[in-house]
Amino acid sequence: MSENNNREQWGSRIGLILAVAGNAIGLGNFLRFPVQAAQNGGGAFMIPYFIFFLILGIPLMWIEWGIGRHGGRFNHGSAPGMFDVLWKNKAAKYFGAVGLFISLVIMIYYTYIESWTLGFSFFSITKTYFDETSFDTMKNFLYSYQGREAGTHFDSLLPAYIFMLITFAINFWILFKGISAGIEKLAKIAMPLLFVFGVILVIRVLTLGAPDPTHPENSVINGLAFIWNPDLSKLGNPSVWIAAAGQIFFTLSVGMGTIHAYASYLKPKDDIVLSGLSTSATNEFAEVILGGSIAIPAAVAFFGLTMTTQIAAGGSFDLGFVSMPLIFRQIPFGEFFGFLWFLLLFFAGITSSVAMGQPVIAFLEDEFKISRKKATAILAVVVLISVQFVIFFLKFGFLDEMDYWAGTFGLVLFAFVETVLFMWVFGADKAWKEMNEGGDIGIPRIFYPIMKYVTPTVLFVIMIWWFVQDAFPILLLTNSNPEQVPYIWGARILMILLYAGLFYLIKKAWSKSSR
Ligand code: ALA
Repeated sequence: MSENNNREQWGSRIGLILAVAGNAIGLGNFLRFPVQAAQNGGGAFMIPYFIFFLILGIPLMWIEWGIGRHGGRFNHGSAPGMFDVLWKNKAAKYFGAVGLFISLVIMIYYTYIESWTLGFSFFSITKTYFDETSFDTMKNFLYSYQGREAGTHFDSLLPAYIFMLITFAINFWILFKGISAGIEKLAKIAMPLLFVFGVILVIRVLTLGAPDPTHPENSVINGLAFIWNPDLSKLGNPSVWIAAAGQIFFTLSVGMGTIHAYASYLKPKDDIVLSGLSTSATNEFAEVILGGSIAIPAAVAFFGLTMTTQIAAGGSFDLGFVSMPLIFRQIPFGEFFGFLWFLLLFFAGITSSVAMGQPVIAFLEDEFKISRKKATAILAVVVLISVQFVIFFLKFGFLDEMDYWAGTFGLVLFAFVETVLFMWVFGADKAWKEMNEGGDIGIPRIFYPIMKYVTPTVLFVIMIWWFVQDAFPILLLTNSNPEQVPYIWGARILMILLYAGLFYLIKKAWSKSSR
C-alpha cells in the first residue's frame, strides 16, 4: 500500500459535505423530480421513490464512498484504478472505464443545459422574455434560443453559444483550482445561496393563493394536492417503479463515478457513514421539500390542472423554462424572482457538473502522473469539441441519445458492476469493515443483507427490464423520426469514440507502469 501524503485533500468536513451535497443536488431536483412525480401518480410516486431510496440510493451512496476512500488510499481517484485494487484481475480496470465514460458524457450535455439557466437568469433580470404572453410564444422564445425553431427573438445560436462559453469557462476555472481551493470553495458559496434562494421561492409560491379570482380552483393548495395526492392505482404500473428508480439514481448522482472521485480525497479514517447519510438527506430535502413546492404548485395556480398536466407531459424544460417565465412576467418583482429561480438552477447545476469533470481529471493525474493543470486542459479540449455536436444537433435528438445511454441506462449498469465487485468479489465482510471504518455511527446491520443481496438483484432486474422495454426500440431506432436517424448515429459514434479513447488510455497507463 502506498499512502500518498501529496494527494489533495478536502479542507474541512463541512466543505466536503457541501461539495458532495452539491454534487447530488442538481437540475434533477428542481426540474426532473416535479415532472416525474406529477406524471407518475403524485404522492403515490413517493412510495416506490422512498423504497428505492432505502434499497438503492442509501446503499449505493455508502458503497461509492467506501470504494472511493479505499481507492484514494492507493492513490486512485477514479474507477479504473479503484476497481483494480478491489479485484486482482487484468479486466477490472476496464470495467472502471464505464465510470469515466458516464461522468464524461453527462458532463458534456449537462454543462450545456446548465448554460441555459445562466442565460435565462440574464433574460429575467433584463425582462427579455416579458413580452411573451402565451405558452406558444414563450416556448418559441426557448426553442429559438436553443436553435430548435426559427424565432422572433433569436435568429441564431450566438446567445446560447456565448452563455455556453461562459459556463464552460467557470466550470473549468473551478476544476483547474482543485479540490479544496476550487470545488470546495464553490460549494461553500453556492450551496448556502441555493438554499436561501430555494426558501425565498417556496415562500413566494406558497403565498400566491389563487391569483385569478374568476378561477378560485387554480390555487397553490390545489397545486400541492396535484403533486402530492396519491393515485394508488398507478402503483400497479411497472413504469412508475422504473421512473422512481431512475430518479433516485439521477438525483443522488449514484452510478456516475463522481462520488467515488470525491471520496478518494478523504483520509483513510475519515467518517463516511454519517457523511454519506447527511449528504443524501440534504439532497432529499432539496428535492422533495424545495423541488416539490416550486414549479408544479405555481403552474397549477396560474394555469390550472389541465394545462399543468400538459406542461408536465412536455417535460422538465417546458416546466422550468416556459411555464416559470410566464409566471414571472405576471407577478410583482417577477424579474427578481425569475433571476433567483434561474440562478438557483445554475448553482445546482454547476456544483454537479464540476463533479462530473473530476473523475477524468483524477484519472489523468493519478495514472499518468501529469499535473492537475494539464489534466484539466485535456478534459476541457475534449468537452469543448464534443459539446459542439450537442449544441448544433440538439433538435435532432443528439442530447437525448447521450442522456439515454449515459444518464439513464449507464447509471444502472455501472451501479450493478460496482456493487458486485465490492460486495461479492472484494467480499461483503471486507467491504462492510471498510465502509464502517472511522464511522461516527455504524451502518445499521440490516443494510448488510440489503447491500449484498437486495441491491444487486434489484439493479439486475431494472437493467434487464429497462433494456428489454426501452433499449431495443431505442437501439433499433424503431420509433425515431427518419430525419433524426443520421444524427442519432452520430451521437453513438461520438460515444463509441469517447469510450474507445478511455479504453486506450487505461491500457496505456497500465502498460507503462510496473503494476
Ligand atoms: N444529481 C445531479 C442532478 O440531480 C446530476 O441533477
